[in-house]
Amino acid sequence: VQSSGGNVTGKFGHPYGYGFLHEDINNSGDGGIYAELIQNRAFQYSPEFSVSTAHYFPINGASLSIQFLDEPLSKALPASMRVAASSNSSGKIGFKNEGYWGMAVSQQKYIGSFWVKGAYNGSFTASMQSNLTDEVFGSVEVKSKAIADEWTEHAFEIVPEKDAPNSNNTFSVTFDPASAQNGALAFNLISLFPPTYKGRKNGLRVDIAEALADMNPHFLRFPGGNMLEGLTNDTYWDWKDTLGPLKDRPGFQGVWGYQQTHGLGLMEYLEWAEDMNLQIVLAVWAGLALDGGVTPQEDLQPFIDDALNEIEFVCGPADSTWGSRRAELGHPEPFELNYVEIGNEDWLAGYPEGWDSYRQYRFQMFFDAIKAEYPDMQVIAAAATSDPAPEGETTGPNLEEGLDFSKTSGAIGDYHPYREPDELVDEFDRFDNDIGHIVGEVAATHVNGATPPRWDGPLYIYPWWIGAVGEAISLIGYERNSDRIPGAFYAPVLKNVNKFQWPITLIQFSADPNMTTRAVTWYCWSLFAHHPISDTLPTVSNSSYGPLYWGAGKDDPRNALVWKGAVYNTTNSSDVPVSVHFQGVTPGTKASLTVLTNTVGDPYAYNDPFTGVNIVNSTTREVTAGVAGAFEFSLPELSVAVLDTDPA
Ligand code: AHR
Repeated sequence: VQSSGGNVTGKFGHPYGYGFLHEDINNSGDGGIYAELIQNRAFQYSPEFSVSTAHYFPINGASLSIQFLDEPLSKALPASMRVAASSNSSGKIGFKNEGYWGMAVSQQKYIGSFWVKGAYNGSFTASMQSNLTDEVFGSVEVKSKAIADEWTEHAFEIVPEKDAPNSNNTFSVTFDPASAQNGALAFNLISLFPPTYKGRKNGLRVDIAEALADMNPHFLRFPGGNMLEGLTNDTYWDWKDTLGPLKDRPGFQGVWGYQQTHGLGLMEYLEWAEDMNLQIVLAVWAGLALDGGVTPQEDLQPFIDDALNEIEFVCGPADSTWGSRRAELGHPEPFELNYVEIGNEDWLAGYPEGWDSYRQYRFQMFFDAIKAEYPDMQVIAAAATSDPAPEGETTGPNLEEGLDFSKTSGAIGDYHPYREPDELVDEFDRFDNDIGHIVGEVAATHVNGATPPRWDGPLYIYPWWIGAVGEAISLIGYERNSDRIPGAFYAPVLKNVNKFQWPITLIQFSADPNMTTRAVTWYCWSLFAHHPISDTLPTVSNSSYGPLYWGAGKDDPRNALVWKGAVYNTTNSSDVPVSVHFQGVTPGTKASLTVLTNTVGDPYAYNDPFTGVNIVNSTTREVTAGVAGAFEFSLPELSVAVLDTDPA
């Protein structure tokens, strides 16, 4: 007989949640969910990534070069692009931008702008055209406002007359150099946006945002992940650099191999959460960087103050110092903020000094300061009670002993299992006797038996079916401990198929929205997220867990009883008979039963964005409780299922 306890999940003020971590990896932000179409729009750079005219191409022999003017567009954007006629030019000259591996063009309104310095008495032509045939899909004349020695912004709209047949397109700006002072102009902050999710200015790409929203997520954790930490202590993700007009955002030295724009800044993350009705887990910088840099205790206070300011920016009243800055930026109402995490995976950054400092004083200093101002805030430590050992070490951190939670009462940990499917099945009872955690990053990332070192070996490039089922079992295990586990977060969530840094993500995409693909895992997360529970229920069974794993709950707002299960049998392909009896359910009670399987019978099958074939089969049927009040059905091998008595 197996049993699990009944828990009120309401401890955290909302039902158990499914969500995701977002950080800019795989061009998931710039060139991804951030809808900007122009790549290298403001010639941003950092110690790691040099400034260049990359992604721009001359038109009609124009000479394109980077310059640092004495009076740049802004302090944040010191570089600009000089566009000049050359001996090869005749007539109008200019530049085209190739976007992030192309740009889709369809008959909708695009909103654009660019800044120019230098006198120009004429008009610009802004257009979108095929990179293959030069066919122009949409074009607009923009009357010049440019005057000598000043930067002037030019705004325009383009509504293409036809859809482009593919995304191999460019955006261009041309002008007549004969009417420009010295035959040249300086350009900066060249921007072009399609319509965005919920119509936000500087907002999210619609198809990607909708794919995320359709999952019915509950949580957004940001800004990382590694991105929060930064490569060095001088280059962490400083939220203040991400606020306000784009011309005041210097950009960020990304930690995943490319310069970032800072276009997707703190406000944009908050609006994203608001627009999808997501609870936020805000990660604040803890003074530890990926290169092992450790901000010592005596220098830490300014960063603790900075974290408090950031929290105030998010949820402080509009008349507070940072709340008023938020109000100035158009959002006087505080955003809801219940979760703050101190750092990210800080048992790894700078091990062992970083982790020792985290245990000895770092976490507690942040914790005490936050709790003093926000007593109800759920503060989260950036480690778990049993994380794996860092490379070359034999033991991982032990949060309970190592962090002495008695001094930070009420804090919970963060656990990041990137595992093989078998290991995720073993996670089922991981939290039955543990302190609270978020499962802040989880995914099946390696096939069973992958040869160590696993990250250097062959990797699946997309989530695959047996991984999704293993993951589903771990999710049921986390959810049945939801009195201590507020939720689980898929990570990382998005991948541009042209930028491969992390193989396994929930959604794949390219410039072409037709390619946006929900991975097999998306369907399992979505199924569970669409059947929330407010309380877990105690369960008993006359069979042990495996190959069937399950959990049960009720959802008070919907007056529903919910059973979630998955079958993980790799050696025996027989269907598993299931009989679910909820106490008090009478014969004749109806429920819906949704079962996910894979259509090709291959445990390693995945949804390939290049074929567009969805291998997940989802069936929903009505089941009726029999004479004993039990719902009887059977589940095939490697399946994921939800039974829910709510007819909706
Ligand atoms: O999600 C990808 C990376 O995995 C995150 O940046 C980091 O937190 C984890 O190691």
